[in-house]
Amino acid sequence: MSETLTAASLPRIGEPAPDFEAKSTQGVIRLSQFRGQWVMLFSHPADFTPVCTTEISEFARRHEEFRRRGVQLIGLSVDSVPSHLAWTRDMQERLGQPVPFPIVADLDMSVSRRYGMIHPGESDTATVRAVFFIDDQGIIRALLYYPLSLGRSVDELLRVIDGLQVAARHRVATPVDWKPGQPVVVPAPTTDREILSPDQAAAQGMEYLTWYLRKRPLP
Ligand code: BEZ
Repeated sequence: MSETLTAASLPRIGEPAPDFEAKSTQGVIRLSQFRGQWVMLFSHPADFTPVCTTEISEFARRHEEFRRRGVQLIGLSVDSVPSHLAWTRDMQERLGQPVPFPIVADLDMSVSRRYGMIHPGESDTATVRAVFFIDDQGIIRALLYYPLSLGRSVDELLRVIDGLQVAARHRVATPVDWKPGQPVVVPAPTTDREILSPDQAAAQGMEYLTWYLRKRPLP
């Protein structure tokens, strides 16, 4: 394995999100203080940079959509709290957009390294655009990594949260390009006895595509 691969520590789906305590724009926060609600922990490369400014101001503008889903946003970069405060003040003054969620100052890169947010092939000194979706029990349910050049899509982040929450609540899966309101996938049969005919599937309110691919609306 290469040096770069062995050096990276990457929490994985289904594992507890590593706890941390860190300074932020809202004082010292600890990840575990948010247990009981979902958390979207995301890194950005640097304060006062153009793509990051579009992202943070848009996350802030659409903050209510995350809050309605019970999701606490936590931002992070390796800049200091004074830098975060100067930048968020600037966004408020110039764009009219207050930032209502904490942004962690990870100056020693302890959180970034623990979460595999530093990708040396991209930058040794700045975090990539990582997103960790952490459920209300503190378990990582999805993660996304984008390079410095690519701003994230709020619509896609919300779609990921909706898909994860539907899967958690209803024990179903979501098909390609799924959006809330669309049919979900019924788990495939695991025994011969569970296989339904098209008529049996229809009688149970399922859309039958083949024996292992059935969809149904959510109640
Ligand atoms: C940006 O947010 O615009 C950016 C940050 C770091 C490197 C490149 C672009």
